[in-house]
Amino acid sequence: MSVIDEIKRRRTFAIISHPDAGKTTLTEKLLLYGGAIHLAGSVKARKTSRYAVSDWMEIEKQRGISVTSSVLNFDYEGCRVNILDTPGHADFSEDTYRTLMAVDSAVMVIDVAKGVETQTKKLFKVCSSRGIPIFTFVNKIDHFGKNPFDLMSDIEEVLGIRSCPMNWPIGINGNYVGIYDRETNTAFIFIKDNAHGTKKLQVVSGKLDDSSIMELLDEEVLESLKSDLELLDEAGDPFNMDKISAGKLTPMFFGSAMTNFGVEPFLKRFLKLAPPPTERKTLEGSISPDNSDFSGFIFKIQANMDPKHHDRIAFMRICSGIFEKGLSVLHRQSGKNIRLSQPQQFLATERVSIEEAYPGDIIGIFDTGELGVGDTVCTKKHPVTFSDFPVFPPELFARLSPMSSMKRKQFLRGVNQLAQEGAIQVYSQPYVMESFIIGAVGQLQFEVLRYRLEKEYNVDVRIESLPYTTARWTASNALPEDLVGTDNALVVYDAKKRPVYLLPNEWQAGWLVERNPNIEFLDTPPMI
Ligand code: G4P
Repeated sequence: MSVIDEIKRRRTFAIISHPDAGKTTLTEKLLLYGGAIHLAGSVKARKTSRYAVSDWMEIEKQRGISVTSSVLNFDYEGCRVNILDTPGHADFSEDTYRTLMAVDSAVMVIDVAKGVETQTKKLFKVCSSRGIPIFTFVNKIDHFGKNPFDLMSDIEEVLGIRSCPMNWPIGINGNYVGIYDRETNTAFIFIKDNAHGTKKLQVVSGKLDDSSIMELLDEEVLESLKSDLELLDEAGDPFNMDKISAGKLTPMFFGSAMTNFGVEPFLKRFLKLAPPPTERKTLEGSISPDNSDFSGFIFKIQANMDPKHHDRIAFMRICSGIFEKGLSVLHRQSGKNIRLSQPQQFLATERVSIEEAYPGDIIGIFDTGELGVGDTVCTKKHPVTFSDFPVFPPELFARLSPMSSMKRKQFLRGVNQLAQEGAIQVYSQPYVMESFIIGAVGQLQFEVLRYRLEKEYNVDVRIESLPYTTARWTASNALPEDLVGTDNALVVYDAKKRPVYLLPNEWQAGWLVERNPNIEFLDTPPMI
């Protein structure tokens, strides 16, 4: 197969949702239809990670499984499908946002009874700000749900995107009995059972005037469906691939992941419509996937997959060129040449060694500590820098120190490695050697840090909360000498040695900005 054909058949996407809408279940079902094995345990196991640190610890016992299932690939009907899983808990949203940088499209799962929820809204914003095409899967239609027109308005009002239903639920007053496929004009009626979604639903399909279908639908349901379809044809947004690709229109599918209803047709249609890898922006201009010069970026680092060996896997999205085992590349951030050794790909519960990978693929490479999240690798001949990585300013700060000064070496190594992984933000204070200031988006990140330092580095730590909730950087990256209004601020340095002012609240931050009109302040670190 030619390189162009290899690129064209790749579909790299993430599934996003508010917790409980059915992301895990849908992922599992896509794997089921994709023929991936041992899936029930692997995907389900990750689910609890969003609840509490105790569950997270439980998951960590099965670390190999939880990590390998964070990127999965399989072949389906000629497509190479790469699904990037994302943590559901809001405290880990930074991880999710970074993962979204590596996809070409996203599937947004919505609970038919609940509509658009808060976490969906946040994740949607990240996708839409990057112009990522979004496909909507309205889940759980085996249950009572909202009126589909109301869901469409909900999507438009809350998310600001118009939707184009590809199929339509059949039923009235929220009691659904099936879906109608608008492309083939076929009705699929499920036969409800008492298995509460644990079994695959029996399905009858046919045209609306087929006797088998007419038998199952009473007059009122049929009339309501027909009038809905007419209204959609007249007033709904027509299917428009350009708008979909630009992230301005979302194709909408209804189904039930739990009972498999509508999942396979969704997968088939989605793979036809979802974009293959396209050109990506770099600081030096766009780079097309069919450019023969290799380029890629690291969007996730997972340390200690095997705690005995302290190994680190860097997850890389390939953006152009062909990856071959042992490829030597330029690490843009350090300017050094590095060899990408032991490349791996992930199949359900197992890792496999790979010889070759193409744009759109995600590969895991063993890293000896050189790579960081957001880093670019490319060729010397065609140096590029992928830069638009979102940075989320921490809202919680604490002082981190080892319980015992005897463990200083392990402490430093652990903190450095976990900071490089992007698990936490670490700041240093001038002349303070025994402790660090740490910043996080959610409390759970602190707890996971404590747990991992103890388990993976054998260091017990003290985490003391600090009364700061916001941070400011300066555009110049320098510490202005004539700064005023910093009485309540703590000056620290981030990992790139840039000064950062930690402030108790937004009001104080506003005060600092107001008192120093000649200085440009930023609420996220300056992009380089
Ligand atoms: P998440 O990853 O988005 O958080 O959601 P997840 O798939 O874990 O699903 C959340 C709950 O919704 C689960 O129930 C799951 O079984 C159920 N669910 C998912 N899809 C459907 C569907 O199509 N129909 C119905 N009726 N339920 C669905 P749970 O009780 O929390 O877990 P479990 O006991 O089933 O494991």
